[in-house]
Amino acid sequence: MKNGAIRETIGSIAVSRPESVSVFARHGLDFCCGGRRTLQQACEAAGLDPDAILAEIRDATNRVGDGEREDWHSMGMTDLADHIERVHHVRARDLIARIDALLPRVLGAHGDAHPELRAVAETFARFREDLFDHMIREERVLFPWLRRLQTPGAVHIGPPWSVSRPISCMVHDHDDAAAALARIRDALSGYTTPADACASYAALLSALRELDEDTKVHIHKENNALFPAGIRTEAERTARAPSDSPHACLCPTPEHIHSRE
Ligand SMILES: [Fe+2]
Ligand SMILES: [Fe+2]
Repeated sequence: MKNGAIRETIGSIAVSRPESVSVFARHGLDFCCGGRRTLQQACEAAGLDPDAILAEIRDATNRVGDGEREDWHSMGMTDLADHIERVHHVRARDLIARIDALLPRVLGAHGDAHPELRAVAETFARFREDLFDHMIREERVLFPWLRRLQTPGAVHIGPPWSVSRPISCMVHDHDDAAAALARIRDALSGYTTPADACASYAALLSALRELDEDTKVHIHKENNALFPAGIRTEAERTARAPSDSPHACLCPTPEHIHSRE
């Protein structure tokens, strides 16, 4: 990995060298919603030495054999959308169900001693609803659209404008989701287990930490790999056959979606 990589964006480094994700996470460098900054800019903001970070990425990459490397970054849009739904959407729903079961109990038992739990419960409730609506919009509108874009000759069925429009809605949702998780993380002091925590409290913190970490990777795969591929593919199709230009923005509101159920 060349030192010129410090001028690459964090998102593109995380896509081309997946082992960098654990290095970025360890140093608190945002590779999902903040993935548009260059490594140099992100390190300057965090007071880190970009060359030292590059050296860690190089070490992490060298430690992983070719056979062990995650292969999602070489997937086409259809496979990547399938992978995201199968892995991250399923995991998010499982973790949210686990948190739903634990949070009211922990709040009831520890809310007086830990008033921060009330704010966490309020933030989590909004995050949960927004993420459910967001994943439904991806699964019913955007991901099928991306799969059609990748299928030669597939006719686009949807309003006549660019796929970049629903993508920017999704990126905006990602920013909101990341901000909500950051508020939860800060309120819980980075998920540090308090001395008086019971087993349920510890299990709640562990589930919230897992949801936070997995959401970062989930957003990274969409913002930095799947969505740019969609915009690129649409541009290529339009350049080849302008009349076939597959443009649309369904981007339905939650009411819109529920009314079709
Ligand atoms: Fe998603
Ligand atoms: Fe998303």
